[in-house]
Amino acid sequence: MDFKKEIDKRRTFGIISHPDAGKTTLTEKLLLFGGAIQEAGAVKSNKIKKSATSDFMEIERQRGISVATSVLAFLYQDKKINILDTPGHKDFAEDTFRTLTAVDSVIVVIDVAKGVEEQTEKLVEVCRMRNIPMIVFINKLDREGKDAFDLLDEVEQKLGLQVTPLSFPIGMGYDFKGIYNIYEKNINLFSGDSKKDIEDTIAFDDLENPELENLIGTETALNLRENLELVSGVYPEFDKAKYLEGELQPVFFGSALNNFGVREMLDCFIEIAPPPRDKRAEERLVKAEEKNLTGFVFKIHANMDPKHRDRLAFIKIVSGTFERNKPYLHVRHKKKLKFSSPNAFFAEKKEIVDVSFPGDIVGLHDTGNFKIGDTLTEGENLHFTGIPSFSPEHFRYINNADPMKAKQLNKGIDQLMDEGVAQLFTLELNGRKVIGTVGALQYEVIQYRLEHEYGAKCSYENFPAYKACWVEAEDETNEEFKEFKRVKQKFLAKDKQGQLVFLADSQFSLQMTQQKYPSVKLHFTSEFQ
Ligand code: G4P
Repeated sequence: MDFKKEIDKRRTFGIISHPDAGKTTLTEKLLLFGGAIQEAGAVKSNKIKKSATSDFMEIERQRGISVATSVLAFLYQDKKINILDTPGHKDFAEDTFRTLTAVDSVIVVIDVAKGVEEQTEKLVEVCRMRNIPMIVFINKLDREGKDAFDLLDEVEQKLGLQVTPLSFPIGMGYDFKGIYNIYEKNINLFSGDSKKDIEDTIAFDDLENPELENLIGTETALNLRENLELVSGVYPEFDKAKYLEGELQPVFFGSALNNFGVREMLDCFIEIAPPPRDKRAEERLVKAEEKNLTGFVFKIHANMDPKHRDRLAFIKIVSGTFERNKPYLHVRHKKKLKFSSPNAFFAEKKEIVDVSFPGDIVGLHDTGNFKIGDTLTEGENLHFTGIPSFSPEHFRYINNADPMKAKQLNKGIDQLMDEGVAQLFTLELNGRKVIGTVGALQYEVIQYRLEHEYGAKCSYENFPAYKACWVEAEDETNEEFKEFKRVKQKFLAKDKQGQLVFLADSQFSLQMTQQKYPSVKLHFTSEFQ
């Protein structure tokens, strides 16, 4: 086994988009190219459908699907590709943020008619902050949409990216004739038939060749030449190093549904997307080629079957190899653990695997040892950074509705918080518990799961908070910090890690507090070192 070769083979990435832009459809086409599935419709959409059933039933349905689609792996041109699932619904944004800590690159899908949408903006911002390499895929070219140049402008302005198109559409909607592949210098004509042979491209390195007129018509040929001239005049030339630094984003056009323009993007992806990247830990930078195993938990999935209360903890391998039955150090618990049935993922199946490599995701059966952000090593005391908590948007007191079941309730809350369903804050003043969530839907989920999985009942009460801010004191012994703690006592809480949090009740009070206590820094995320 050539360890270095195995690392170089891996491409672990996520597809991000606003719901409905075509993430599921694109994922499915990628799997078809890899031969991992045989037919369209095999990948289930994990989006929340607004249909007849309640939102909450929808979430349970979604939870079932997201077990299956957490990691979709396939082989393509001897590369092992791992696609990590990222829920598009805004109530699950935090899940997606966490998954983005485990990807080495992303593909951003944008709907040609709708342009850049809200969720895309938020997710791309997170990727930009972390310098994650991004490829943009503009989808649904078979439909009438925005002008290609306008869209490229929008992507640059709204997403703060520096783009360079590597393919360019020839017409659009009813007039959509195909794609000019700038990267490969060839033309792919659109027939509207998704089963079309994917090799059907026409090499075209000289655009002045009069054959172009015969292929797409005089006017369209003229337009294409003009457009491509504009592209080369306005946009920088593609530079792989800049892409890998997160400073330049190539753009592809196509139609996922028609399997058009997808192969072009995938081939380019294989060539340019990074193998497993080095990852920063509090102590040092960890390189993928290091021989010793390191990895971290970025997702925990509870078993859907209440009779089997185990959970699956998803570990991204950062360095070394993960071997079955070998003891590894659970750094937070300071204890060694062995895993007899680690799961690897292939297409939509999971199977027990003996050895996994950097870039791979391993699913470990867990009875409550892990929480998100935990690190595994071969003995080193190492803590990976970059999995912060973000300020929730909604806050409610959680009360015990069945005094006989206090223990079950606490255990349930504890475990659901480890899974990252929501965040728990314990008020300094009276020890009452406040649950913070990104979306209101999570409260229903928590209530249902507490009852069905832990036999505990809860009720909620409004807690008037606007944002949770993690507190950083310049000097914990100074008078200003002491006064801040005394005056704001009612609004102070500890999060699950024991970090001090200020629950501001309005934007105004947050501003006032910041002005009054300038040496006390307030952060919207839990990681600020
Ligand atoms: P998502 O995962 O990003 O939420 O999007 P998804 O792939 O589910 O696609 C959303 C809708 O857009 C689907 O239609 C899908 O068929 C359609 N779609 C995806 N790619 C293209 C494309 O290239 N061209 C066109 N015209 N449509 C596209 P739906 O009616 O909502 O769902 P379904 O009933 O077809 O599954």
